[in-house]
Amino acid sequence: MDFDSILDQRAAFNHKWVALPKDAGADGETGIAMSVADSDFRTAPVVLDAVGAMVEHGCFPYGADWDGYTRAVAEWQGHRHSWDVDPDWIVSTQGLGHGIAMCINTWSEPGDGVCYFTPVYHEFRLKTLRTERRPVELPLRLENGRYELDLDAAAAALDPGVKILLFCAPQNPSGRVWSAGEMRAVAEFAEAHDLILVSDEVHADLIYPGATHIPMDIAAPAQRDRTLTATAASKSFNLAGLRAGQMIIPDETLRTAYQRSLRMSDYGPGTVGAVATMAAYTPEGETWLKAQIAYLDDNRAVFDAGINAIPGLHSMRLESTFLAWVDFSGTGMTPEEIATRIRDDAKIAVGAGPEFGKGGELWSRFNFAMPRVRIEDAVARMQAAFGDLQ
Ligand SMILES: Cc1ncc(COP(=O)(O)O)c(C=O)c1O
Repeated sequence: MDFDSILDQRAAFNHKWVALPKDAGADGETGIAMSVADSDFRTAPVVLDAVGAMVEHGCFPYGADWDGYTRAVAEWQGHRHSWDVDPDWIVSTQGLGHGIAMCINTWSEPGDGVCYFTPVYHEFRLKTLRTERRPVELPLRLENGRYELDLDAAAAALDPGVKILLFCAPQNPSGRVWSAGEMRAVAEFAEAHDLILVSDEVHADLIYPGATHIPMDIAAPAQRDRTLTATAASKSFNLAGLRAGQMIIPDETLRTAYQRSLRMSDYGPGTVGAVATMAAYTPEGETWLKAQIAYLDDNRAVFDAGINAIPGLHSMRLESTFLAWVDFSGTGMTPEEIATRIRDDAKIAVGAGPEFGKGGELWSRFNFAMPRVRIEDAVARMQAAFGDLQ
């Protein structure tokens, strides 16, 4: 399995590489795109074969008969996460961004609050704003280099107009894998404040040895009547551009409401995304995924060692995801100085910490899902850009 080849990412309309001139004043030769959360790897051969067979067949008609698709997703959840999912609970979406926006539209009104624990995936805030809702940040507490929930502080930040809690499990950024007890506490928090709980579990298949992801529905079955879980093969198999994701909704009332919203937006699954997901969720796909996780784990070690050797910088120990979360607070620099050095000196495009909400101001997120030589190059660039810090 090849994770070392450097592919022409611009040929794939790859957002983060296309945006590199704007984000870092560089091109694919002179800069490194470590911003958007997709990988630079070719996906699993079994997926390429399945999509290749569609291309060979030569036509892409309207699709029907999604039983194989929902069954593949259910079996994958059962096999990988011991979650007994009924295929009928699965509703396809055009990616999870779409799925989350549909939840916001279904269970709140413009002006209502949408809350989430920060620092978090910046799109939670953007989706809240785009749907004309109010972002309500619930800061996580940093304790011994790890994020912890502070549910008392979170409760104090709420008001009666807050209707929805977006929860990222595992957390992006920081790769925090929540325990069953923490997941349950979050669900009980949602119940106590009458919030619809959207558990975004898109990174759940990218877990490093030593950590275990527990789906929200297993951790908190008592709150099923207010919980929707978002999953996809997009991050783990590099399929984000196919725009296929799933909302898993055990509760029939919630599911009916969600499906009604989907109908009103005239959505239907796309065949290529469904076929690719089915192929990914096979034993061959899982073998490739395990090899990818091992490769990422080594990238993580190379990146962390190089970054932690720079005085004032610290890369958080990840339990999951390919998104390193680096603390620059030890440099004494402002967010602008940090961003300028990364962008103009290192010529690396990253996820700027302030975009991830409270607690992210002095941090940056680096996507390391790319060939190892690029990680070594990125580390050398960062050491040169921050080399005067002794
Ligand atoms: C936590 C989280 N949720 C959702 C998404 C976006 O999913 P999609 O590409 O399916 O819209 C991302 C992408 O980075 C993510 O990190």
